[in-house]
Amino acid sequence: KKKVILDVDTGIDDALGVILAIKSGQCELIGITTVNGNVSLGKATENTCKILDFLQAGATIPVICGASRPLLRPLFFEHRIHGEDGLGGALRDAKVLTQPRDGFAPDFICEQVLARPGEVTLVMTGPLTNLALAVKKCPELVKHVKEVIFMGGVVNGHGNVTPVAEYNMYVDPEAAKVVFHAGFPQLTLVGLDVTRRVLLTEEHIDELGDTPIGRYVRQSTSDYMDRSLERNGVRACAMHDPLAVAVALDRSLVKTQRLYVDMETRSELCDGQTVCDFQNRLKKEPNMNVCLDVDTEAFFTLFLGALKA
Ligand code: BDR
Ligand code: CA
Repeated sequence: KKKVILDVDTGIDDALGVILAIKSGQCELIGITTVNGNVSLGKATENTCKILDFLQAGATIPVICGASRPLLRPLFFEHRIHGEDGLGGALRDAKVLTQPRDGFAPDFICEQVLARPGEVTLVMTGPLTNLALAVKKCPELVKHVKEVIFMGGVVNGHGNVTPVAEYNMYVDPEAAKVVFHAGFPQLTLVGLDVTRRVLLTEEHIDELGDTPIGRYVRQSTSDYMDRSLERNGVRACAMHDPLAVAVALDRSLVKTQRLYVDMETRSELCDGQTVCDFQNRLKKEPNMNVCLDVDTEAFFTLFLGALKA
């Protein structure tokens, strides 16, 4: 089984990514690291622990806290989207049993990767702060990671925070820049180009039935879906982070192209933009695999199949 570390800023879709990773049974989750992002580091960690409690997985999967702020920029939460608690109100009153382990996420990432050279896949679904810190601390990490898959950016469309920037990139563009240029042999960008095409709807949730997981997903995504209806005219919840997890489980879900992508960090209007050099104007070697197409139906077969299991 693939050995995976998940790095999350647990909001609604991060939580669904964690659930997918665990319930699929298709990977060995060697740890979940948390990062500031959608919600504070404390909330992201608590939400992650709640999800592990919910799945009764807290005893086997360590949770390790990471960065409490972006490398240089101020905090920028997304309570508007993920609710005050970060899980859309689901599990609000749950007593938290699982506790994070001692340690710091960037150190944990370094230790685990170096202990298992060439074996660990990193799936990042929040701002890239923890990985940037890990790379800075331990540059040899880069050649020992099996692959890095991150949810972030958009190369052919519009942003979801500014006209050009996607949230995870916007929050910590300096961290993204470090990761983009670190030299990872396999770095995969799962951006809004594809994640906006995997939309969870009421019909999908109905398939989960009146089960604990069905009720959880319904409650967690309900306000999000209402807002999406107002904004986009469709009552749905984009599976941004679950798609990044799914790509780690089954590569064939997406079509990718090797391209050079850089991160804008010095513009008033465009900070956080993933600038993708489709025509090789900059004459640089490609630095990542960019997802350009997704098999939506196959994603939902995997996702709902795992959640029903
Ligand atoms: C990303 O931003 C966050 O709000 C989501 O959890 C996801 O990781 C989508 O832009
Ligand atoms: Ca996220």
